[in-house]
Amino acid sequence: MCGIIGYVGARPCRDILFQGLRKLEYRGYDSAGLSIIRDGQFELLHSVGNLDNLEEILHRVGNGGTMGIAHTRWATHGRPSTENAHPHTDCTGRFAIVLNGIVENYMSLRAMLRAEGHEFTSETDAEVVAHLIERAYAGSLRDAVVAAYRQMEGHFTYCAITTDEPDLIVGVRKETPLVVGLGKDENFLASAIPAFMAETRTVLFPEDGQVVVITRDTVELYTLDGDPVPCEWTHVDWDEEAAEKGGYETFMLKEIHEQPTSLADTLAERIGPDGGISLDGLELAPEAIKALKQVLIVACGTSYHAGLVGKYALERWARVPVEVEVASEFRYRDPVIGEDTLCIAISQSGETADTLAAMRLARSAGARVLAVTNIVGSQATREADGVLFTRAGLEIGVAATKTFLTQELAVLLLALNFAEVRGTLSEEQVRAYTEELRRIPGLLDHYFASGAAAEVEDVARKYSGSRFFLCLGRNLGLPVALEGALKLKEISYIPTDAYAAGEMKHGPIALLEEGSPVLVVATDSFVYDKLISNVQEVKARGALIIAVASEGNENIAGMADDVLWVPKTDEMLAPLVAIVPLQLFAYYTAKAKGEKVDQPRNLAKTVTVE
Ligand code: AGP
Repeated sequence: MCGIIGYVGARPCRDILFQGLRKLEYRGYDSAGLSIIRDGQFELLHSVGNLDNLEEILHRVGNGGTMGIAHTRWATHGRPSTENAHPHTDCTGRFAIVLNGIVENYMSLRAMLRAEGHEFTSETDAEVVAHLIERAYAGSLRDAVVAAYRQMEGHFTYCAITTDEPDLIVGVRKETPLVVGLGKDENFLASAIPAFMAETRTVLFPEDGQVVVITRDTVELYTLDGDPVPCEWTHVDWDEEAAEKGGYETFMLKEIHEQPTSLADTLAERIGPDGGISLDGLELAPEAIKALKQVLIVACGTSYHAGLVGKYALERWARVPVEVEVASEFRYRDPVIGEDTLCIAISQSGETADTLAAMRLARSAGARVLAVTNIVGSQATREADGVLFTRAGLEIGVAATKTFLTQELAVLLLALNFAEVRGTLSEEQVRAYTEELRRIPGLLDHYFASGAAAEVEDVARKYSGSRFFLCLGRNLGLPVALEGALKLKEISYIPTDAYAAGEMKHGPIALLEEGSPVLVVATDSFVYDKLISNVQEVKARGALIIAVASEGNENIAGMADDVLWVPKTDEMLAPLVAIVPLQLFAYYTAKAKGEKVDQPRNLAKTVTVE
């Protein structure tokens, strides 16, 4: 999630832009930059790391310019560096852009532009936009921005300025946020309200495909075809903290609702137009994938649960044996692994001490190591042979939500890729799965838009006085049950156990008494009937059943005391949707208990200690 701010007005804008970036720090970033037009020329600054580094060089640009754009970058393509920091400019140095999101077809655009003589200075996808605008410009920045937009695929927001029209900024969005702030003798564009909320609370929210043009005195909205659109201004009275949470009461709730975007970002460019899988950064030759004798997954906590999803998928699709190990245990083992072993280390932070230690042990035993992580430049990326980045954006809530979903997606993509290479799935089978994967973000968008979260809240309130929960699942429902239990434990502090449903009769069923609440992951699957017989077993002991079930299931409602419905999808992809109601259930249970959800007691976001 990058941060964008643009200013045009009566005042010198250097410090206004910088303070705007400061207000966007909560979104996470690894580099930053700004571009101001003064005396018909761009003044450009770029820095890596903390904004303090940009502040140290601010003096290099005078404070005379009254129009500019600025950016904080969360790296998705290309390492954090000054070359990759935005704003990006074109070959002539007359156009500058900042972008948030992903240009999925940037490789083909880059090739086309290079063939026409454009020279690139960065590794990013965003830079293509500056060259597209340069290529299309014929006196109107707005028209050139639209021309670029029509050539781009993906989801993005970008703002552009040019020295040819030094009094205006043009912005446009597609499935990522863009907001406009209305000031007196000045106007703002940004990726989020906090960037300018200290200056104005009068806000406009352009729709996808609407083009906004701001000058010092005017704000105009157009369709892509150039038809004017009336501006509907809103006054926001959020306090600053609420603004950083995008209006949600906590970061965790915001991040739960960001999951469709996080999935779409992680999917972007990894499924080709033909439905095939293309995973950059694996550093794994097809021969090595075919020669694999075993996969070892090491991780901790929530990431371990994502590893369990990977086990089922890799074994069923790629037909390769998989062991999933808790890193803190594995690191003290004397494992039987070697060069035909691939170690997959899953860590959203890329800094977990136990997981790093497990990676080192696996490498010392001869295994290749692939890191699945959310943080570009993290220690795990520096020690692994290959990296598959999730693109969840910064996760501030200590309890992992969107990073878990993108980890699940990452291991599913890996398993499909391996199956494709090893020929254990046909092309048609792979495409059927990738086609369904592409639907998931939209299914979750619809899930949230349908008011499902409020329904889960009602159910959570009903059970929030419970002293104990049990979570049950079978097959791919088991990692979901384990993760749902961890969410409940870590934010509501209610003791919660999770088991393979078939295990209940081997002891845990003794825990049940009249009214014991049991959460069951009962999405459609080939083990559904077996699971239902387990449900009957626990019901017979007086348990109350809260079932996570696929929409369209007609018999579960007669059996469960409450049902948390999820969109129907292929059973192999069900963990991507089934965990969401359990995240919400844990959230609203903790909220009903008045617990501090974003910073639960005793927990840290990154466990760098052993
Ligand atoms: C998840 O909600 C917890 N915050 C914790 O279990 C976490 O998943 C674990 O510490 C691993 O962190 P990592 O993914 O950064 O390695």
